[in-house]
Formats: sequence, C-alpha cells, structure tokens
Amino acid sequence: MSNACVTLNQLKFSWPGAQRLQLDIPQLQIDTGERVLLRGPSGSGKSTLLSLLAGIHKSKPGQINVHGHDLGKLSQRQLDRLRANEIGYIFQQFNLLPYLTAVGNVELAVKFAPARRARLAQRGVSVRAAAQQLLQHLGLDHNSQQQLAQHLSVGQQQRVAAARALLGAPALIIADEPTSALDEAHRDNFLKLLFQECDAQQSTLLFVTHDATLAPYFSRVVELEQLNQAAESTHV
Ligand SMILES: Nc1ncnc2c1ncn2[C@@H]1O[C@H](COP(=O)(O)OP(=O)(O)OP(=O)(O)O)[C@@H](O)[C@H]1O
Ligand SMILES: [Mg+2]
Repeated sequence: MSNACVTLNQLKFSWPGAQRLQLDIPQLQIDTGERVLLRGPSGSGKSTLLSLLAGIHKSKPGQINVHGHDLGKLSQRQLDRLRANEIGYIFQQFNLLPYLTAVGNVELAVKFAPARRARLAQRGVSVRAAAQQLLQHLGLDHNSQQQLAQHLSVGQQQRVAAARALLGAPALIIADEPTSALDEAHRDNFLKLLFQECDAQQSTLLFVTHDATLAPYFSRVVELEQLNQAAESTHV
C-alpha cells in the first residue's frame, strides 16, 4: 500500500439530479511511477472519475486516497492545497489563459503551490528557468515561449498545458485526452516527450483516452467499463 499513488475503494458517484449511478468502482490502485491508460467510450465517465481524483467533485460514499491523503478527510483548503501541490492536470481543452504568454501560463502553475516551488528551489532553478527548460524539452523554442497562448497552434497549446502540469514535479499527472486534436505523428511525439518528463521527475501518469491504439505505450491499461459496475446502465 505504501507504494500507491492513488487508491480508490467502494467509490459510488452520481451527478446531482441523476437517476442512476455514474460510477460504482469497488477498487482501483495506481502505484507510484506507473503509466496508466484509462480507456472507455465517450460518456462512460472518464472525466468524471478524474474530477473525483483531483477533488474537483466529491464522492460521499467510498474512499479516495491520493499521495497518502484521504480526500474525504481534507478541508476544502487542504484539498485545494493538495491539488495545487501534487496534481498536474492536463485538461481536455487545455484551459490556458489566452492573454498570458506560453511561459506565463506555465509559471502560473506553481503560484499557489509552495511544495512545487520548494522542489524547484531544491534543484537550484528559478520558476522562470524551469518553465523555459520544460517548454524547450517539449519542443517550444524561445520565440514561441513568448507568444500569447491565444496565438499558439493547438499542438503548441497542448505542450504548454503539459509543461504547466509538470512544473515542480507533482506526484500525479492527470491527462484528459490531450491528444485528441492531434495527427498521429504529433501525438506519438507528444507522448514520448510526456513520458520522458514524467520519468525524469518520477511523476505517476494517469492518461485518459478513448483511443485503443495508444495502449502499447503504457505500462497498464484500465478499461473503465470493466472497472465500473454501473457501466451497463450508462450505455446509451
Ligand atoms: N458537470 C456535470 N453535471 C452533470 N452531469 C455530468 C457533468 N459532467 C458530466 N456529466 C455526465 O456524466 C456522464 C459521463 O461524462 P464524462 O464527461 O465523465 O464522460 P467521458 O468518458 O469523459 O466522455 P468523453 O470521452 O466524451 O470525454 C455523461 O452522461 C455526462 O452527461
Ligand atoms: Mg471526457
């Protein structure tokens, strides 16, 4: 158990007003350092599960443990702190601030995350230098780094979103279908870079997609429909 980055027990979740359970998951464990692909069709509840793991929504029945913390036992403030410090989230739509530069978006990730800043300080790098270095590794040159996010291509925005998630080495990187807008070559290259960076800073990766062809890249594939005992009732 001590090697677990995420554990989930007897999770039951339904959206407010919904007639039926969206998720009913007896058990899931993701060990530190794993690269897990969470797969399932559109509408099966992948993003819902991620939002529960990140403490964005709350599940009353059941237990979710992230990086040694039982989310149900944390105050809102502690939850916000844990999310800021230990979870790097790459959203389906990237959610960059359009009027900030690429590097500005990345730096913002650690503004409210003292543990992430401390890890950078321990390495002896400034936030700015670390953000630039990550963007460089992910393939954004100096000029692109200074562009406003709203002027970047989709592929560039995705790399900025990845750098923002990775900066300051959070324990868990959650990626919600960040490759769906990319062609195959860009997608493969992005995955390679994402894995390299996760390895370099020993972050655990939970990557969501409905694309079965990505499976060989990962150390484990979790099919949400096999995990989720409410799955039959979610079929439309
Ligand atoms: N904020 C919300 N309020 C109410 N219902 C929601 C909310 N978000 C999602 N749902 C419902 O939960 C179900 C699962 O949605 P979710 O977004 O988790 O699926 P998904 O597997 O991520 O799909 P996709 O592959 O299309 O992103 C859907 O039926 C959706 O309508
Ligand atoms: Mg989704």
